[in-house]
Amino acid sequence: MNKRGFLQKNWRQTDAERARRSLAAWYNSHARDLPWRLTPSLYGTWLSEIMLQQTRVDTGIPKWHLFQELFPTVNDLAQASEAEVMKAWEGLGYYRRARLLHKAAKVIASQGRFPDNRQGWLALPGVGPYTSAAIASIGLGEPVAAVDGNVQRVMSRWAGVTAPVDSKPGAQIIQEVADDWLDPDRPGDHNQAVMELGALVCSPKHPRCIECPARSTCASADSPDMWSVLPNKTPKRKAARWELAWHVAHHGNQVVAIQRPDTGVWATLWAFPEQAPTFPTAPSHTLIPEVVHVLTHKRIHARMEGTAMSSAEALHAWAKEVNGVVMTWEECEAKAWPRLATKVWPQLKAACMAHN
Ligand code: ADE
Repeated sequence: MNKRGFLQKNWRQTDAERARRSLAAWYNSHARDLPWRLTPSLYGTWLSEIMLQQTRVDTGIPKWHLFQELFPTVNDLAQASEAEVMKAWEGLGYYRRARLLHKAAKVIASQGRFPDNRQGWLALPGVGPYTSAAIASIGLGEPVAAVDGNVQRVMSRWAGVTAPVDSKPGAQIIQEVADDWLDPDRPGDHNQAVMELGALVCSPKHPRCIECPARSTCASADSPDMWSVLPNKTPKRKAARWELAWHVAHHGNQVVAIQRPDTGVWATLWAFPEQAPTFPTAPSHTLIPEVVHVLTHKRIHARMEGTAMSSAEALHAWAKEVNGVVMTWEECEAKAWPRLATKVWPQLKAACMAHN
């Protein structure tokens, strides 16, 4: 489509109104009983929105319960140590979110209350345009359309927006469509209804148009040719291959672990040194087959090498050399580690113990 085509408004206000009305009726009978919807609070809404930024609802639910249990109020969260918050977050990935959540909790605790409007939320660490709109609409009834990836998919298909949704003109037009759909009287329910539609009906590969409340006004209804190209996104660069080796120096029930730097991949999480022991007292042995793990921009091929140290002294000397810490496996387990480690942890531990 030419530039004029997608910059021009090619949907009608009356169609948006119709879609909004039938969406509201659909949501009343199809909304999932998600825990943060059952007893709504600003704290619970904020936690859920941060967790769901890059995480599926199914994965977010148990973590949301865990956070409520460990940190029942924002003050509890603010007073927890960063290590406790990171450990609780373990498994959700994108750990920057946990650090920013913790930072924001401290700001909220020091202010003595939650922000009471979208701008106030937007000023907090970890809260961007989407999250602030979601929290303000759900928790405060502010009439703003919250647009995330799912909403982009629904809107671009419905209005037939072919401009890349991650381009400025594309994002602008998607926002306009979303604003036209918005129900200013029930903005929180409305935004969640659109999210629900994206999750349950207008799915990426095989949308169930037959079940869709917006079907009669949708530019892509029953059109696989449209689903396959919308939302249009600028092509992603390929994940770079990263050959990584983790060296597990061990003796008895102890290993040498390091805490990663404050910046970069896995910032502040625990890991094994990437350097091989320089004074091995036994030959290195491969612990488990290569582990392939995919992050957003990296495809990791990890080798896990073990070195059985001859004594506890040798283990401590090596720890000193790499700025590491000697810990038992159990002490390691109390820290936050990347998923790359936790997903092979039992095998890794068993292989080391077998080589003592
Ligand atoms: N994704 C992000 N926020 C959500 C919410 N409140 N309900 C369902 N899915 C979501």
